[in-house]
Amino acid sequence: MARHFLTLKDLSSSELVALIHRAIALKRDPTAPETAALLRLRTMVLIFEKSSTRTRISFEVACAHLGGSSVFLSPSDSQMSRGESVSDTARIVSSMADLIVMRTGEHSRVRTMAEHSAVPVINALSQDFHPCQLLADLQTFFEHRGDIRGACVAFLGDGSSNVCQSWVEAAAMMGFELRVGAPEGYHPHPDLLAAANKHCTIITQPQEAVIGADLVITDTWAGMGQEEEKVQRLAALSDFQVNESLMAMASQEALFMHCLPAYRGQEVSAEVLEGPQSVVWDEAENRLHAQKALIEMLMG
Ligand code: CP
Ligand code: NVA
Repeated sequence: MARHFLTLKDLSSSELVALIHRAIALKRDPTAPETAALLRLRTMVLIFEKSSTRTRISFEVACAHLGGSSVFLSPSDSQMSRGESVSDTARIVSSMADLIVMRTGEHSRVRTMAEHSAVPVINALSQDFHPCQLLADLQTFFEHRGDIRGACVAFLGDGSSNVCQSWVEAAAMMGFELRVGAPEGYHPHPDLLAAANKHCTIITQPQEAVIGADLVITDTWAGMGQEEEKVQRLAALSDFQVNESLMAMASQEALFMHCLPAYRGQEVSAEVLEGPQSVVWDEAENRLHAQKALIEMLMG
């Protein structure tokens, strides 16, 4: 049976920690001999129904480092945009390829892909989750500050975003405190909050959410597919901008993360994004190393 990665919870907590350490090791030795031929004569198919810079590049480069080949399908390339079902597509692609990486809207589409695929399916972002982003984010925290267990993490802005919801899953799996600073109507799904139990709290005041935090995170206020709600979202979230006065309330050693793309002057000020506490460029590069470790875990 193929092993899929649709949400962080497809890994156990100990596998997640092992994967982070493996990603750090692969970063030091990108052409490690034991991985150079992992995907030899194997093919990764990327099915992307939404735009991407980092995720597409990091998966295609990872595939090249692991000795494999990749095929990229945008909506205009595949028959899915003309009505071919996700389930038929899964059967066809997995009869020829060895790994499917899918970026889509409704999370049920990537679940359906996995249900009908004979090969591993990786969620490269859905409306509800962005688990690959979390692998890189956790790796980045470990590199800069060591183990995240027991740390205090503040996510500011749209708590219902795919990135935040994956952070909610990470909180209970890794054992840290997550404070989601978000207004009414922008909270993570109640089922996720219930599962995270005491590890995640919702705070409606941005200042209160960041006090003493070891890590401050945000994400775009209007994600892909939310363009029509942009004006309303910018107004609702305007008090939650991560700027220097907010960062001053976090721990002196606090890091700042953003999955990117960032919109300076909206969810984050240019000063914070480019400032000394920001690790966003490492975070983006770590997509490559963390996903190599993920592919190795699923296919090794
Ligand atoms: N962070 C992230 O997933 O970036 P892309 O949308 O560019 O892939
Ligand atoms: N929440 C954002 C993440 C982009 C990488 C979106 O879904 O557009």
